[in-house]
Amino acid sequence: MKFTKLLALLLVVVMCFGMFAACGSKDEDQNKDDTKVIKMGTNAAFPPYEYKEGEKFVGIDVEIANAIAEKLGMKLEIVDMEFDSIITAVNQGEVDFGMAGMTVTDKRLLEVNFTSSYATGVQVVIVKEGSDVKTPDDLTGKKIGVQLGTTGDIYACDDYGKENVTQYGKGADAIIALKGGDVDAVIIDNEPAKAFVAENQGLVILDTEYAVEDYAIAVKKSNTELLDKINDALEDLTTDGTIDRIIAKFIKAE
Ligand code: ARG
Repeated sequence: MKFTKLLALLLVVVMCFGMFAACGSKDEDQNKDDTKVIKMGTNAAFPPYEYKEGEKFVGIDVEIANAIAEKLGMKLEIVDMEFDSIITAVNQGEVDFGMAGMTVTDKRLLEVNFTSSYATGVQVVIVKEGSDVKTPDDLTGKKIGVQLGTTGDIYACDDYGKENVTQYGKGADAIIALKGGDVDAVIIDNEPAKAFVAENQGLVILDTEYAVEDYAIAVKKSNTELLDKINDALEDLTTDGTIDRIIAKFIKAE
């Protein structure tokens, strides 16, 4: 008899805890809901702009995006995807903006709006040490590796013919192809180029720059409200030196 009473009491206690726990988690959810989430579409295979350290997203774009989200009073969520899916994801509302060391081009401007530019990019050519390719002009008739859908891809196809260009999902895969002799050169943005060359022996970046371009954030054309908000945030972050500080943290002056 005593035992059953004890059991009943225990049951009541357990149920109470359960209820409290439920209440607790409900409150937590509510708190989470209060800070609105803003989603960034990126391709985290592009050091030092966006890459992964373990499970964590890091890099210049990640830090600038976090600073923007903070200014907007929102919480940043990063959605990692193929580079050439970002603009579609922005336009379909899967993400609120695209930020991926993305170059402003006339063609992309037909599809999305770009914020003001927050960084400069340079397309460079990586070859193996001792290669007979000494300047971009020597690329005629050579096999060129690029990351699919990037400006490197677009320019290389225009200048050297689509049949000479091999598109890889990631810049790092183009580098593997270069090392393995599948391609003679890789065209890619200068900062990732430096990171890849530093990690891989026997590769060099040509001195002659291939193209100079502006990086900006892509926003759906109809969402001018967000475009304006991000531009205001970028202006503040430029004026107070945050952007320079973030860039200097990842790109050491030569
Ligand atoms: N700047 C080049 C472009 O816009 C390459 C960017 C690639 N970015 C990336 N996260 N994979 O086409």
